[in-house]
Amino acid sequence: MRQFMLGFVFASIAVVVFTMYQNVFYYVYECCRPGWISFNRTGLEVALDQKLFGQHVASRVIQKAVTGFMNNKNPKKPLVLSLHGWTGTGKNLVSQLIAENIYKEGMASSFVHQFVTSTHFLHSSQLENYKSQLQQWIKGNVTNCPRSMFIFDEMDKMHPGLIDCIKPYLDYYENLDGVSYRQAIFIFLSNAGGEHITQVALDFWKAGRDREEMELQHLEPALSLSVFNNKQSGLWHTSLVDKNLVDFFVPFLPLEYRHVLLCGMAEMSAKGLEPNQDVVDQMARDLVYFPKSEKIFSVKGCKTIGGKLDYYT
Ligand SMILES: *[C@@H]1O[C@H](CO)[C@@H](O)[C@H](O)[C@H]1NC(C)=O
Ligand SMILES: *[C@@H]1O[C@H](CO)[C@@H](O)[C@H](O)[C@H]1NC(C)=O
Repeated sequence: MRQFMLGFVFASIAVVVFTMYQNVFYYVYECCRPGWISFNRTGLEVALDQKLFGQHVASRVIQKAVTGFMNNKNPKKPLVLSLHGWTGTGKNLVSQLIAENIYKEGMASSFVHQFVTSTHFLHSSQLENYKSQLQQWIKGNVTNCPRSMFIFDEMDKMHPGLIDCIKPYLDYYENLDGVSYRQAIFIFLSNAGGEHITQVALDFWKAGRDREEMELQHLEPALSLSVFNNKQSGLWHTSLVDKNLVDFFVPFLPLEYRHVLLCGMAEMSAKGLEPNQDVVDQMARDLVYFPKSEKIFSVKGCKTIGGKLDYYT
């Protein structure tokens, strides 16, 4: 009897110690649990408001799309966002802000996976390798954690065959080989549509209309034009669009001088410097703007501003 009691006590202690250890483990090491993965709606709202400049349309669509998806207990398919626009307009930033407000570790989370076409899938001779590797990765990672996020940068440069191989994961299947992809998030970034979006913004400007009056409906024709009719980038889109696999097409507007100023001021704060209007002004004035005659939009948006500021300060 006594031995039995002793055994029982030891077993209980072992369970308690193990549970504590496990909790400490979960606390210290990132794992697929609510402590590490939970959506902060206000956080995303604040971040979009304070860090993304000149993108009132994109900002609204992103907030709505991500909030809707994250609050849905039983989504019928993974969330698929396609971000379009000129370079430096905030597409990467938005992916980062979404990641930061879902994963405690943000972009550094082991559940966030980023692929850049020109780095990861450079050689078309390797296509078959890339395909099986990518499929394995998506499957493996979603098996580990259903709430995984995949970001594909330079989507317009991606080989159509590679896009075809990820299509099944974006679809409405309850599961594929026993794995459900419905909690996952896929974000595609591309410059496709940038020219058309810019044209709309320019027409607004020329008509003397306020940029903030621009709505998604003004930009949708531009997006679908480039999606369906652009020979270079249309291909991948058509196959995704035909099956309605993309939930939201998000347009990013070209940035004006005043937005570059805002980016510059934010960048200085982020670097721990005292934001200095004169310095930022100088930097913004030296950037290149287009079209040639009107010089309204920054050619590189807010890209490379970080490095430039180092030079001016
Ligand atoms: C969510 O984000 C807001 C705004 O950034 C922040 O104040 C708040 O602490 C965050 N909540 C959680 C649970 O992290
Ligand atoms: C998850 O994806 C990464 C690439 O981001 C890859 O290196 C890793 O092997 C994948 N994990 C699994 C279990 O497939």
